[in-house]
Amino acid sequence: MTHTPLVLSGMQPTNTLHLGNYLGALKNWVRMQAEMPCLFCVVDMHAITAEAGYGKPDELARATREVAAAYIAGGVDPERTPIFNQGQVPEHAELAWIFNCVARLGWLDRMTQFKEKSGKHKERASVGLYTYPVLMAADILVYKATHVPVGEDQKQHLELSRDIAQKFNNDFGVPDFFPLPEPVITGHATRVMSLRDGAKKMSKTDESDNSRINLTDDAEAIAGKIKRAKTDPLPLPSSKDELKGRPEAENLLSIYAALADQTLDATIAQFAGQQFSGFKTALSELTVAKLEPITTEMRRLLADPAEIDRILKSGAQKARAIAISVMDEVKKKVGFIT
Ligand code: TRP
Repeated sequence: MTHTPLVLSGMQPTNTLHLGNYLGALKNWVRMQAEMPCLFCVVDMHAITAEAGYGKPDELARATREVAAAYIAGGVDPERTPIFNQGQVPEHAELAWIFNCVARLGWLDRMTQFKEKSGKHKERASVGLYTYPVLMAADILVYKATHVPVGEDQKQHLELSRDIAQKFNNDFGVPDFFPLPEPVITGHATRVMSLRDGAKKMSKTDESDNSRINLTDDAEAIAGKIKRAKTDPLPLPSSKDELKGRPEAENLLSIYAALADQTLDATIAQFAGQQFSGFKTALSELTVAKLEPITTEMRRLLADPAEIDRILKSGAQKARAIAISVMDEVKKKVGFIT
């Protein structure tokens, strides 16, 4: 049996969004929206597994609205594609419980993100952080979604989702009940790196704000950060080969290529042999030109939080209609009387 194609993805509302979230995720979502039905979720329930989102209700609500505003300002059309926060669709948590009983401790023990996030003191991590990937599987499968655009770092979590789907189908004798969701790993600029260190991912948790371009930065801040971005002493390369061992040059050229919607080769050809200073001016002009309409729209949306809340509620109603019917089937398969 083949499942109807459906895309689901989500971003966690912790701290602020940056250029990596836009180029690595959002820009691709907008493209996918034209090709397949999609659902885009703000994963506030995942956010409370992180320190930045736990015990800070005002901050969590603010960040949730900011992510929703970024989705809309970046080009997701809430009329066509439901945009909602996970906390308003209780079926995610309901299915996650059942999946907690499907997933094995051994599977979760292998999750590298938990190991990284929990650090040296695993016993002090919350149970929620441990079972985070199980909730992610529920996010996807509560809609029977088939395609999940994610970054490289989420591939292992997606494999776990497939394992859970397969084990459920098998253990409850319902072959093909859940689809095995496919990761959609997107574009060459998926991995936007830190402006301070070309070997590290651009991240909202990096302590240096100069390492990233936030979607809330104004033109002056963007220009300043690009000016200060780390480079190397050589002129810009004239071929991809010459990029080897030059992660900062590669990152800045990749960002340019992604923003300009052109290939990395074309970008290399455009700036071959030039100095970084001139290239950086071109890069900051392009970044400002591409981000300005989005950041302006985000600020306009955020000025009216009630409108964002209305969009989230209406998105949640549409999402719930699907989730309720899948949960109804799931409960019957499990043997819960409904
Ligand atoms: N864990 C994902 C991340 O950090 C966020 C996420 C939660 C997600 N649920 C999801 C992504 C479901 C895709 C589908 O990026």
